[in-house]
Amino acid sequence: MKNPQAAGAATAPSADEIGVAAPVKDDLCAAEAKLTRLLDSNEALISEICHYLVDGAGKRLRPLFILLVYRACGGVSEKVADAIDAAIALELIHSATLLHDDIIDGGLLRRGKPSAFARWGFAPSLVAGDFLFCRAFELCGRFDERLVRTAAQACIQLTEGEVMEGRMRHNAAASHEDYLAVITRKTASLFAAGGKVAADLAGADAKTIAAMEKLGLAVGRAFQMVDDLLDILGPEAKIGKPVGSDLRGGIISLPVVLAIEHHPEFAREFRAGTPIEGAAFDRAIALMREPSLIARGRALAADQMRVAHGLLAGLRPSPYRASLAALIDEQSDREV
Ligand code: FPP
Ligand code: MG
Repeated sequence: MKNPQAAGAATAPSADEIGVAAPVKDDLCAAEAKLTRLLDSNEALISEICHYLVDGAGKRLRPLFILLVYRACGGVSEKVADAIDAAIALELIHSATLLHDDIIDGGLLRRGKPSAFARWGFAPSLVAGDFLFCRAFELCGRFDERLVRTAAQACIQLTEGEVMEGRMRHNAAASHEDYLAVITRKTASLFAAGGKVAADLAGADAKTIAAMEKLGLAVGRAFQMVDDLLDILGPEAKIGKPVGSDLRGGIISLPVVLAIEHHPEFAREFRAGTPIEGAAFDRAIALMREPSLIARGRALAADQMRVAHGLLAGLRPSPYRASLAALIDEQSDREV
């Protein structure tokens, strides 16, 4: 049975929400409408979970990024349907990973409300994630083999990033290189695939396609670095999940790696392998929030943003390139 609420649920974003998305507003609206339809399943439970997670929630940063890259690389309106499908596919994959990630982490709050795992439990969340994942490949399976391979390779990296993150839990010897390896796989790989596929669909030359892949890597890394800082800065009402979730889970986030480097007492607590709770948690958060460490974290994100701007400089000036530049800059003062 289809979800009756889903029909026509996609609405045009308000002027305030449009911002950097203005040049691709119509493409984004088309993507949103189709994305919503693809959440429907013959099984009501699957529809319910998918609509609960995806409808009206999430920043749609990946679709926005793909559509801007497509247009900035000269992609034409006649073929934009392909870029829209690629944008939807990546958002579906991203959504699938969130369902699975909350199962793995026991995450109870997602996007400001109880996670699907908290509401429906293990098996329904697992299957709903599989459903979204399959929908993505149903959508982009018609593309050229090399594009499908790019998407599949990104998914392989997502799984490897998740497992590497698990392997490194509570590892007080984790280095900055380990951290970069985790975020490159678990987050930046999907942005990189998006940049590569979008430029390819736009008919760009090999050099531009490679540059847009690197752009995705840099944007994805900057995004995850800021996300990691927000995890300890909160507040919960803004970030939509409990403050300090990464620390509680023993995850080697950016502030964790920085605190390990600068505070031996933090490293000792982190290494203990048991969840850091109570007064120890408050002490650890206070160390991680030290202004000098936050500034260092922001500087590392800014390094990635500089790389991204350098790659953009190779594209012809256009409103799309300007929006990509603004999207990069927005990361530095993003609050959610
Ligand atoms: C969320 O990041 C998690 C990811 C970006 C990757 C999750 C990958 C998997 C679960 C592997 C399964 C993959 C597929 C293709 C279905 P986060 O944990 O930093 O964010 P959070 O704090 O919001 O949970
Ligand atoms: Mg997580």
